[in-house]
Amino acid sequence: MLRRGLLGLVATLLGGAIAGGLGLLGALFAKATSRWPARHAARFTALCRLDALQDGAPLETSFSFDRVEGWYRERVKRLVYVMKDAQGAPVVLSRSCTHLGCPVRWKPKTTTFDCACHGGKFDAEGAPIAGPPKSPLRRLNARIAGEMVEVEET
Ligand code: FES
Repeated sequence: MLRRGLLGLVATLLGGAIAGGLGLLGALFAKATSRWPARHAARFTALCRLDALQDGAPLETSFSFDRVEGWYRERVKRLVYVMKDAQGAPVVLSRSCTHLGCPVRWKPKTTTFDCACHGGKFDAEGAPIAGPPKSPLRRLNARIAGEMVEVEET
């Protein structure tokens, strides 16, 4: 009888410990996921002054931001070209070639973005015109905020 009572007590304590542990895990998960919508909302960072952009001359620049995915955090750096479209709105293009990711360079004489790795070429709007790339240069969301051009952190 004493043995049976002791086993019952151990089983009760063990069950309580497991239930408490699961409850704690549930609370931690709820806390971690409660901010997901806020973390996935678009965030913009300052890129350059609007008056730094000249017609027909893309500005080579970069920006950095902290990317947080759950408990993982990393510093991300993006290399971009910034220019104005016909209406004066900022256009931000990635400097990564869409073939295999080599950096592209603006060539003023040919008004193209050239990739030295495999001879890829993109026109002034970022559309592929020669070589292996089939997709245009990635366009990042940009906006004007006061005197600054801001770009979405992505
Ligand atoms: S990586 Fe640019 S053409 Fe291949």
